[in-house]
Amino acid sequence: MRGHRRLRQASAALVAISASAALALSLHAQGNIQTAVNAAYAKYRTLQEGKNADYIPALAKVDPNLFGIAIVTGDGKVFTAGEVGSEVSIQSISKVFTMARVIQDQGPDAIEKNIGVDATGMRFNSIVSVEFAKKLLGGPEINPLVNPGAITATSMVKGDSADEVWAKIIGTYSDFAGRPLSVLSDVYKSESDTNQRNQAIGMLMYAYEYIKSNPAQATDLYTRQCSVGVNAKDLAAMAATLAFGGKNPLTGKQVLSAANVPYVLAVMATAGLYDDSGKWLYHTGLPAKSGVGGGIIAVSPGNFGIAVVSPPLDDAGNSVRAQKAIRDISTALNGNPYSVKGERAVATSGRR
Ligand code: DON
Repeated sequence: MRGHRRLRQASAALVAISASAALALSLHAQGNIQTAVNAAYAKYRTLQEGKNADYIPALAKVDPNLFGIAIVTGDGKVFTAGEVGSEVSIQSISKVFTMARVIQDQGPDAIEKNIGVDATGMRFNSIVSVEFAKKLLGGPEINPLVNPGAITATSMVKGDSADEVWAKIIGTYSDFAGRPLSVLSDVYKSESDTNQRNQAIGMLMYAYEYIKSNPAQATDLYTRQCSVGVNAKDLAAMAATLAFGGKNPLTGKQVLSAANVPYVLAVMATAGLYDDSGKWLYHTGLPAKSGVGGGIIAVSPGNFGIAVVSPPLDDAGNSVRAQKAIRDISTALNGNPYSVKGERAVATSGRR
């Protein structure tokens, strides 16, 4: 009897020790996260490189000094620096979440068979890449993160009317962000007035039968989805939902089946930063996606979702400060999923 009691006391003590060690580790990890975020913010705040996108006139007017960093961990903690409340248009980052919606509704094969999941190695609005895929490769050999594939993915969201399709798209984005999102009307108008190239791409994708019907509606809804307003925290929550098996850590809502998440991350890894995707992956290992509004999201699976907003872009169309800040922060937190050394950023409470 006495032996039993001693054993129970000893195991209770062990549980207490490991719980407090876990708590200490977790607090330590949280301190690391805020330190890494602050350091990157201080280092790049005054960096003057790159230029706002101006082929969509409204984007040229956004303050180039805007700079916000946010990380969301699995236990719903948010770590920030800078202007994390200011909205920019989501632009191409939207492509990830429309792709996710199509995969969720129709399965991963639908995207692979109708669009493809291969990097084009060309610019995001390349028409040559479509010609090349059709004429030389003979089929669905692009991906849903370049404009031709993204307009096609939007055309694949099912609904009896444009409003019904839109409700699904904006509902999905809002679920990922954990709050109701809406369109920035000045950006939508500006992009609608100047998106003749995307209209041509939509028509070409229809001519080649990737888009089955109503290409004009698909291009318009795509333009709307690119104009959705998001701040750095929204984007970090969207990334964190992908980092934690499709469950939004802020709301607890399962937005995407865990089984579908790897398909989304795979396309982000191969094509998320366009023709610079290889370079990005080489240095960070992180599935990511950029937008010409100046946002980049990146996902460290099981570890954290991160987003940075800063409008000036490099020649490939990717935010300069965002790339540098995410790379530094992820290195400090050992976020590279290919790396097995060291303590991960959120060793306990952030894990599910
Ligand atoms: O279709 C376009 O050109 C824009 N709405 C989106 C492009 C974009 O964000 C490319 N990203 N780096």
